Amino acid sequence: MLARIQASNGWKFFAVLGRADAPLALAWWAVLGVRGVLPAVFAVAMGLVVGAVQHGAPLAGPVGLVGVVFVLLQVLSPMHQAIGTNLGSRTAGWLYDQLTAACVGPPGMGHLEDPRLTTDLTMARDFDLGISGPPLSISMGFIASGLVEMVGGIGATLVLGAYAWWAPLLLAGAWLATHWLLRESAVWRDRNTEAVREAERHADYAYQLAVNPPAAKELRLFGLAAWTVERFKGRRRRLFELQWEATRLRERPVLWSLLLVLGANLVVFGAMALDAASGKLELGRLVTFATAAVGTSMIAFGGLSWALDSASAPVGAVLRLKPAMQPAGALPSGTRSAGGIPAREVRFRNLKFAYPNNPERVLDGFDLTIPAGSSLAIVGQNGAGKTTLAKLLCRLYDPQAGAIEIDGVDLREFDLESWRSRLTAVFQDFTRFELALRDNVAPRGAPDELIQSALAQAGASHLAALDTTLAKGYQGGTDLSGGQWQRVALARALCAVQLGAGVVLLDEPTAQLDVRGEAEIFDRILQATRRTTTILISHRFSTVRHADRICVLEHGKAIELGSHDDLMALGGRYRTMFELQASRFGNGADEEHLDEAN
Ligand SMILES: Nc1ncnc2c1ncn2[C@@H]1O[C@H](COP(=O)(O)OP(=O)(O)OP(=O)(O)O)[C@@H](O)[C@H]1O
Ligand SMILES: [Mg+2]
Repeated sequence: MLARIQASNGWKFFAVLGRADAPLALAWWAVLGVRGVLPAVFAVAMGLVVGAVQHGAPLAGPVGLVGVVFVLLQVLSPMHQAIGTNLGSRTAGWLYDQLTAACVGPPGMGHLEDPRLTTDLTMARDFDLGISGPPLSISMGFIASGLVEMVGGIGATLVLGAYAWWAPLLLAGAWLATHWLLRESAVWRDRNTEAVREAERHADYAYQLAVNPPAAKELRLFGLAAWTVERFKGRRRRLFELQWEATRLRERPVLWSLLLVLGANLVVFGAMALDAASGKLELGRLVTFATAAVGTSMIAFGGLSWALDSASAPVGAVLRLKPAMQPAGALPSGTRSAGGIPAREVRFRNLKFAYPNNPERVLDGFDLTIPAGSSLAIVGQNGAGKTTLAKLLCRLYDPQAGAIEIDGVDLREFDLESWRSRLTAVFQDFTRFELALRDNVAPRGAPDELIQSALAQAGASHLAALDTTLAKGYQGGTDLSGGQWQRVALARALCAVQLGAGVVLLDEPTAQLDVRGEAEIFDRILQATRRTTTILISHRFSTVRHADRICVLEHGKAIELGSHDDLMALGGRYRTMFELQASRFGNGADEEHLDEAN
């Protein structure tokens, strides 16, 4: 029983309050305790006043007590509200801190792609936006009132015990039975079922589509504006329906509850009336016990459950995600320093790899050696596994079999940070940081001259001042075109090369550049990376042909390897692809000839 309570989201929620802000949580609990006791004290004080009046005793004490209780009742409520609002905000902040640390912490990225974690991640990410329930700062008020009522009810029950031992048992038993009878209405039931979370995820996606810029073009162009709004409304309605369904009151249990509560109250009040009439119960004590009997009802229901339910579900999600993300994104780091490597070669030895969420093998016996300091181009169809190779070399995942070896040492033996600082990359879907141009080129910092020279190498000298934020939404900010962004990403890699990176990965680095820009920049890239081991992934054969060697990747293996001339002479897959692309430009002229014609 205790273990079940401790495993419940509600328990975790209360534990988290103290971890988010211990003094505030302590104050919140203390005020809650006092507020909870006040109804019982009030019942006793009222009895004392009536008793004093009846016996002609001095009134100052009892009336003073009633006054103090009354004032406290008035003052403590708004005070508690204010403490709760702050505590709610602090707790939401604490949870978001935990979540960001859990997401960013693991060295791998499998945890962000794991479908088993997606639902929790959605809930944990947006819980305080008020879409599926009130934000924590508001919920705290409801939770506080619910708890105050419960404590108040228990206090009243104890006072009633002074009248007769059976009275609190009967009355509290009847009120408590409503919890069980109305369990269908989920007074104590977790309403965040899998179906609710699923609906929440869909509602969240439609919401993100509607309010964020990336989808704005397609929504308009394909006439999806109304569809998005309808989808959001529909999914959110479904969410509410599910919650409503879970908390719906059913007729029969309600009737039973009413009968039970009515019966218990009739017995207790009837007994008091008889005792009062026979003189066994003085008027003052009657007032106290009658007030306590009424107060017992507070243990029945209240706003606690639903508010606690919706407030504690994301706490459960965040606390679940933390330990789940660790192993899902774990990559054990080695201890060797990666300084100065590769000095001899980068070797992919018989690599076999499938993504954690997809059993299909992307690489199936991929074997290839790249001499240090040389350039290798990888070509292959969409989905062949080129980007996957790049990610494996960055050690964002580990292969299931085989190894990547640097100068004969398994990549997993190197210190992860140390290895990553040896490489740089322009990813196919590189990130456009909403930061100053300077920070986009050198996220870890670099002298301005270096940044300027990297920008010049990437043909991006005059895009913006180094301090300009590269996003429209900021003061003095600006946005760039796709090709301009690609030049910034290239500059980022070239800057890292100047800072000493030994391996450069370029995954479609010029896909968005105009033809003239591409040829010009490619020469500069080769120049800048002539001493580094460079891996170029590209569909453009005009750039690919400049690499020292070219590898054709198909069905998870390297099926051809050699220089452009070797592979043309071989007359295999490379030649077919090359000629197919060249023929698009007529007379067998490849893109480079077109460049020259320009
Ligand atoms: N994160 C992922 N989770 C599961 N499967 C993935 C993931 N990323 C890629 N894949 C799958 O792995 C295969 C190889 O993808 P990869 O991105 O390496 O191809 P690619 O050769 O770079 O293709 P393109 O030329 O289109 O860039 C594809 O079938 C793809 O669906
Ligand atoms: Mg790719």
